[in-house]
Amino acid sequence: MRVLVLGGTTEARLLCRRLEAPGTGFVATLSLAGVTRAPVLPRMEVRIGGFGGVEGLARWLSHNQVEAVIDATHPFAARISANAVAACARTGVALARVQRPAWSAGPGDRWTMVADMAAAARAIGPAPRRILLTIGRKDLLAFRDLGTCGHAWLVRSVDAPDPALLPAGARTIQARGPFDVAGEEALLRHEGIDLVVTKNSGGAATAAKLEAARALGIAVIMVERPVLPPATVVGDVDHAMAWLRSRAVDHAGSTGRSTLRDV
Ligand SMILES: NC(=O)c1ccc[n+]([C@@H]2O[C@H](COP(=O)([O-])OP(=O)(O)OC[C@H]3O[C@@H](n4cnc5c(N)ncnc54)[C@H](OP(=O)(O)O)[C@@H]3O)[C@@H](O)[C@H]2O)c1
Repeated sequence: MRVLVLGGTTEARLLCRRLEAPGTGFVATLSLAGVTRAPVLPRMEVRIGGFGGVEGLARWLSHNQVEAVIDATHPFAARISANAVAACARTGVALARVQRPAWSAGPGDRWTMVADMAAAARAIGPAPRRILLTIGRKDLLAFRDLGTCGHAWLVRSVDAPDPALLPAGARTIQARGPFDVAGEEALLRHEGIDLVVTKNSGGAATAAKLEAARALGIAVIMVERPVLPPATVVGDVDHAMAWLRSRAVDHAGSTGRSTLRDV
């Protein structure tokens, strides 16, 4: 059964590892946007770069006779997820989205929830702060013009950001999770951070900063996830594999084949 995995996340990496095991009965391709400079690649076929919108993705699915799509992109990658819903509807290809649970505030957390990056920038306020900004590279523009307000910025991302998008005087660190609480606490203390600005990515790999902020009583501005069009949602890689196996059983039934084994 031909499967397309839309990737760029830990879940996609783990799913590919499961799908590339020999004898699974799945022939999978991983698709990456091509935005990360040194992506971790699986052994399976990988294609890199945009499809060209809904039209291009629908064409690619038909041309490659894809029977199931797993959208394992990041919760903030809203465009490709919407495109996947539309292209799969158009071509009749089955789609499931791997959606890790969002983080939620607990006792001791000092979170301000905001709807988007512009609201996060407004929520920082006029008083000078020492800010850890961990929102990735592509949304930095919303914060750039606050650089002159006396804030001290530490911008953390996997790849180095475009300097033209940085607030004036911002310092940058490049690091890829997983991060641990002790390391995050040390960073927050050492830098004298009094505000963390982040987005609600969810997942364990980057949650330690929130625990560290709680322990140190540091405020957090949390950007909520974009709303995505409805789709079949699975919470993790195990459930994605179970969903694929159930599709493959239907598929084997309809083609008279039965090559599936537990993976
Ligand atoms: N946004 C984040 O915070 C974030 C964080 C970590 C990882 N990522 C990963 O980085 C990638 C890009 O994220 P984004 O927020 O820029 O996406 P996006 O805004 O939803 O997508 C922008 C365009 O990039 C192309 N694209 C995105 N993901 C793709 C994929 N897996 N394979 C092929 N084309 C893809 C599509 O181009 P066409 O319309 O031409 O097909 C899409 O329209 C995704 O794979 C995502 O999982 C994103």
